[in-house]
Amino acid sequence: MVLIGGGSGIGLRVAHQAVAAGAHVILGGRTRERLTAAAQKLGSRATWRTVDTTDRSSLASFFAELDHVDRREAAFAQYRRDSILRRPGTEDEIAQSVLFLFSNGFTTGATLYPDGGYTLR
Ligand SMILES: NC(=O)c1ccc[n+]([C@@H]2O[C@H](COP(=O)([O-])OP(=O)(O)OC[C@H]3O[C@@H](n4cnc5c(N)ncnc54)[C@H](OP(=O)(O)O)[C@@H]3O)[C@@H](O)[C@H]2O)c1
Repeated sequence: MVLIGGGSGIGLRVAHQAVAAGAHVILGGRTRERLTAAAQKLGSRATWRTVDTTDRSSLASFFAELDHVDRREAAFAQYRRDSILRRPGTEDEIAQSVLFLFSNGFTTGATLYPDGGYTLR
């Protein structure tokens, strides 16, 4: 599983849950030190590479260097203060949603809107 943004926060929580479920994870981000620390905590199933998603050549190199990727997904979470629940989702709540999308072999692209009910208003 490739997790750009996997060095901290929600991405790192997804990485922990994915490793616990048996996946190998490749963490991506701009800060080498952050990625190293995250990968160490995750253990032997985790590797990392630096990447900057605002730089097309960096993104192209990142994916070109990957030997084998089953699926690539990106999750963009958007926090809305005026949501029905009036609170942000926890890292665990959002990580569970991402892992759900990975639980079948068909989904290769999806956008999550964990907005606490904003879209239901
Ligand atoms: N919907 C909700 O209820 C909810 C709740 C919490 C958070 N959020 C939102 O979800 C998003 C993620 O939250 P988070 O807590 O996980 O934040 P975070 O801890 O700051 O994680 C963002 C990760 O993305 C990486 N990153 C940032 N820019 C990058 C770039 N250009 N290229 C590659 N990697 C990049 C960062 O590493 P580097 O800086 O080292 O690149 C970092 O590891 C935020 O936008 C936040 O507002 C939503």
